[in-house]
Amino acid sequence: MNLYDVPAPAKLNLFLHVVGRRADGYHLLQTVFRFIDLADTLHFTARADGRIERDQPLAGVDPEQDLTVRAARALQAATGTRQGATIALEKRIPMGGGLGGGSSDAASTLIALNRLWGTGLSRAELMRLALPLGADVPVFVFGQSAFAEGVGEALSAVPLPSRAYLVAQPDASVPTPVVFSDPDLTRDTKLITIADFLASPYFHRGQPSRGYFGRNDLEPVVYRRFPEVSRAARWLSGTGRASENQEKDRGLDVRMSGSGACLFAEFDSIEKAILAQREIAATMRVAGSASTSQATQESPPRF
Ligand code: C5P
Repeated sequence: MNLYDVPAPAKLNLFLHVVGRRADGYHLLQTVFRFIDLADTLHFTARADGRIERDQPLAGVDPEQDLTVRAARALQAATGTRQGATIALEKRIPMGGGLGGGSSDAASTLIALNRLWGTGLSRAELMRLALPLGADVPVFVFGQSAFAEGVGEALSAVPLPSRAYLVAQPDASVPTPVVFSDPDLTRDTKLITIADFLASPYFHRGQPSRGYFGRNDLEPVVYRRFPEVSRAARWLSGTGRASENQEKDRGLDVRMSGSGACLFAEFDSIEKAILAQREIAATMRVAGSASTSQATQESPPRF
């Protein structure tokens, strides 16, 4: 068989602490990545001529800069295979949304072509190929929710309670480098351990307003530079929409994912997330039909 269909899930950053900066300008982070069931789908067809081609390239993206193409070429270079592929992509994850869509597409390309071409690299080897493609790519090869350190590549699996999410997409696309290079970004958040995270009230069940662990250090910069995101966050977390989901006169407990623009709120069940989505749908654009996304509990089997 020379055809593969592979999902590429989105991620949320449950918190994101900037704890330092490397000499090359990249930032040292501590974060927890969680995969959700909002996903792109990739289709791979093997080619004997060695070419890597994108079927219907994304508008505004030079096919040579497309992360799936770069991932495929990196695998070719690492293995010396003479095989090629045509890659088609059904895009559902918003771009510039902080949900890791491009990174996930790249990781799924590495995993799928390694299988399709029979090049036999291990997961660890694929993760090494993933990092130069982007700091968020290794976690998608890792394939399960993870506590991440370094620039995002030092990964430890972390068990997370089953939760559902409403993901809202403000009308803005946020370029990640703009956020990380802002002089006012907090870069010295205190280091924590996985044990701190696992012991936090976040894991206590049955509390309606347990809040989130830590914070997203990128939020203040994004809210200042992108007023649409700040407005959306204020509106979602404001007092105007008392609902059965939340305490009366309280809005949603909102957090931004990655460098935004997408915002999320966490719920105990998918039913509560859908109810909240209905309440906001009339006044706010939400992330496509999958704007309510049940969090995946365990890693999708990627190997
Ligand atoms: O690695 P990726 O291509 O996703 O990063 C995009 C940009 O975000 C980088 O060029 C860098 O400016 C910034 N970044 C950073 N520290 C990280 C991840 C990203 O400074 N850990």
